[in-house]
Amino acid sequence: MIDKIARFPLAVLPTPMHVLTGLSRQAGIEIFIKRDDLTGLAMGGNKTRKLEYLIQDAMAQRADTLITAGAAQSNHCRQTAAAAVKAGLACELVLAGEQNSRNGNVLLDTLLGAKVHWTPRKERQARMQTIAHELEQRGQVPYVIPVGGSNAVGALGYVNAMIELEKQCQSISWWPTHVVLATSSGGTMAGLVTGKKLTGFPAEIVGISIDKGFDEFPIFENEMAEISLSAAHQIGLDSPFHADDFIVTREFLGLGYGIVGAEERNAIYTLARSDAILLDPVYTGKAMYGLLELIGNGFFNPDDRILFWHTGGEASLFGYESELMHAR
Ligand SMILES: Cc1ncc(COP(=O)(O)O)c(C=O)c1O
Repeated sequence: MIDKIARFPLAVLPTPMHVLTGLSRQAGIEIFIKRDDLTGLAMGGNKTRKLEYLIQDAMAQRADTLITAGAAQSNHCRQTAAAAVKAGLACELVLAGEQNSRNGNVLLDTLLGAKVHWTPRKERQARMQTIAHELEQRGQVPYVIPVGGSNAVGALGYVNAMIELEKQCQSISWWPTHVVLATSSGGTMAGLVTGKKLTGFPAEIVGISIDKGFDEFPIFENEMAEISLSAAHQIGLDSPFHADDFIVTREFLGLGYGIVGAEERNAIYTLARSDAILLDPVYTGKAMYGLLELIGNGFFNPDDRILFWHTGGEASLFGYESELMHAR
C-alpha cells in the first residue's frame, strides 16, 4: 500500500550502498555503508526522504508556508528550507539559542531563502505556534513540521528506504546482520523498524542515541513505537510495535548533544582517512564513535556483517571548525 501514497519528488534514489574497504580492513569486520548523505537535496541527508511525504501532505492541505524548528546547525531545517524552494513554498525556521556561527547550515538556510527566528530552546514549540497563528491572521496557510520531521508521515520515507535497501541487498546477494544508525528525534529509526516488519528484513537495527540518555528520556523507545504504529496504520500493515522492537544504545552520548569531543573527532578523522567519506560532528560522527566502540567491545561476532546508515549532515562540519581542527 505504500506505493499508493503520493510523495513529492525531492531525493535522488536509490542512494548508493557499498563496502567500506579501508574501515573493514582496519576494524577486522565487514562494514558496508548506505549513503543517505547523497540524497541530493542541497547537500542531502536523511530528512529529504521524510520531506517527500511531508511536503506532499502540506500541498494537499494547500499550505503556502512551512514552519519547523531545530538546533542552530539543524540539517532538518536546512533540508526543509530546500524542500520549500522546490515546492514553491515559503519557509520559517525556529532555531535554538543564539546565532554564534554564520557558517554551515546557518549559511545554507540563508542562501535557501528561509526566514530564521532565533529562540531559546525550550520556547521553540510555542514560537512555531505563534508564527503559525500570525500567518493565519494574515490569511496564509502554514504547515508545521515537528522537530526532525519525526511523525508518522515523515517516517514513511524510511519505510520506503528499507524497501530500497532490501532490493539492493537482493541484487548483490549480501545481507547485513546489523544496521547501525544515529537516532535522535526517532523518525528515521521508527521508519526503518516499520520497514523491517513489512519486508521481513533479517538484520537487527541498532540505534545509537545522540541525545537521549535513560534518565531524561526513559520512554524514547515507546515514542518510536508509537510513530511506527501510526506509520504502519497508514500503509495497512497490521502489526503491533513495542519498546522492545527498538534496540537503542545510550552509551555514546559523549559530552552531550552538539558538543564535539575527542570521541566524535576521532571517528570523523578515522573514516575520512580510511575511505574518504565525511561524517558530521553532531550525528554520524557520534554514531560512528559508537559503532567503533561496539566493535571493540565484542558486541558483534567476527563473521557479522554491518551496514552503517550514513544519515548526512556534513554541512555542519563548517560550523565546528575550531573543535575539529583541535589537536587529536
Ligand atoms: C545527520 C542526521 N543524522 C541523524 C539524524 C537523526 O534522525 P532522527 O531525528 O530521525 O532520529 C538527524 C536528525 O536531525 C540528522 O540531521
